Amino acid sequence: MTPIDPPGKPQRRPFVVECEPGKYAHCQCQQSSRYPYCDGSHRGTDKNPIKVVVEERKTIAWCACGNSGNMPYCDGTHGRI
Ligand code: FES
Repeated sequence: MTPIDPPGKPQRRPFVVECEPGKYAHCQCQQSSRYPYCDGSHRGTDKNPIKVVVEERKTIAWCACGNSGNMPYCDGTHGRI
């Protein structure tokens, strides 16, 4: 995985990352220190990460604003909030 944006915290634009095949967990509690990836911080909340299996290397725009209508992917909603 080659990050174009470093993980960290929610922002008003997507995290665009070249992803290698594998399993990913997209944070939904927005408390992860590895946002947009899950670090387990949701434990004890009613939020759970969205699990994604990437079959082939590709660029993914992960939603990092928390408002996408197509979670876990950016759908452009961040530009309207
Ligand atoms: S970052 Fe684009 S919709 Fe959330």
